[in-house]
Amino acid sequence: MLRTACLGLAALAFLTASTAMTQPAALAIKSAPFGKLADGTAIQAHTLTNKNGIEATVIDFGATLISLKAPDKAGKIEDIALGCDKLDDYVKGTPYFGCTTGRVCNRIAKGEFTLEGKKYTLEKNNGPNHLHGGKEAIDKKAWKALEFKNPDGVGVTFTYTSKDGENGYPGTLSMRVTYTLNDKNELRIDYEATTDKATPVNLTNHGYWNLAGHGSGDILGHELQLMADRYTPTDDTLIPTGKIVAVEGTPFDFRTPKTIGSRIGEIKGDPGGYDLNYALNSEGKKMALAARVVEPKSGRVLEIETDQPGVQFYSGNFLDGKQAGRGGVTYKKHAGFCLETQHFPDSVNQPSFPSTILKPGETYKTSTIHRFGVKR
Ligand code: GLA
Repeated sequence: MLRTACLGLAALAFLTASTAMTQPAALAIKSAPFGKLADGTAIQAHTLTNKNGIEATVIDFGATLISLKAPDKAGKIEDIALGCDKLDDYVKGTPYFGCTTGRVCNRIAKGEFTLEGKKYTLEKNNGPNHLHGGKEAIDKKAWKALEFKNPDGVGVTFTYTSKDGENGYPGTLSMRVTYTLNDKNELRIDYEATTDKATPVNLTNHGYWNLAGHGSGDILGHELQLMADRYTPTDDTLIPTGKIVAVEGTPFDFRTPKTIGSRIGEIKGDPGGYDLNYALNSEGKKMALAARVVEPKSGRVLEIETDQPGVQFYSGNFLDGKQAGRGGVTYKKHAGFCLETQHFPDSVNQPSFPSTILKPGETYKTSTIHRFGVKR
């Protein structure tokens, strides 16, 4: 009896010691060089960790989230964000893996808009349209980083000032993007911007997720729930028609959880799959749950909260295995999904959509939280 009790205590002591060895004791941040740009600018990788083993790495180039490690229901840690190993991969261009996207994310019809009586012409880098701020946009710039640590979280604030006329947009736009990780397993992204001329602004993070692990195959078995009764239908170049219609009775209906693959085959066109903006029920009026994704085998759960009116759900339709992924993995069609919280696409040309115009004296301010958990 006594012997058993002693053994029990010894086992407990061993467990405590091994837990202490493998679990980071507290919120921490460390940085390491991630390479240099052609002009000699050094790019750092900043790794944020919490007490539950969540680890997020962000780099100065494009204020990009390059990795997110999270435990599954058995405690096994995997990287669940699609990404690359080398700075050079990001410089050459990825399908926007994890980057901060803007000055206006998503599409602007025919790369044109008129503001305060003046017509602006932008690069057409997506068929007839402008996409994600242009080819060499803020996702391709070196941002300045400032690390911080406080009792509630660890993080990095990235700043970048886009010059008046950069990528064709009016106004000097000063942007701040702050990533914060806390012990509630939340990775929060706060965006701020100010301008000296009226200009459209729509910033998002273009993270690609695969909750079973970044190289584990397709995401069609993930269960998705979107807090959206309506979506913005588009023409075949993915420009909204201006209508906001009910998801009811369409393959776009994710009001109750269902697998991404369950009705994906009903979506016509090439390459097919989901690539559309949902009008969130919260209408951008408050911070609210926008999406919940569960991967049944690993049990990993991702919840997304935002104060934005929309979310672009993209099922990785253009991934074709050509992109060099982390650790030599190739990312094939549907290897990851994106939930890009944002204002609606082409808002600058759509008077019925919530406005994306930022004026001098105003501050653009928005937040999105990614909460990681498990379902047993
Ligand atoms: C967004 C778009 C997609 C695609 C990806 C990047 O999500 O909506 O059509 O362009 O970015 O490949």
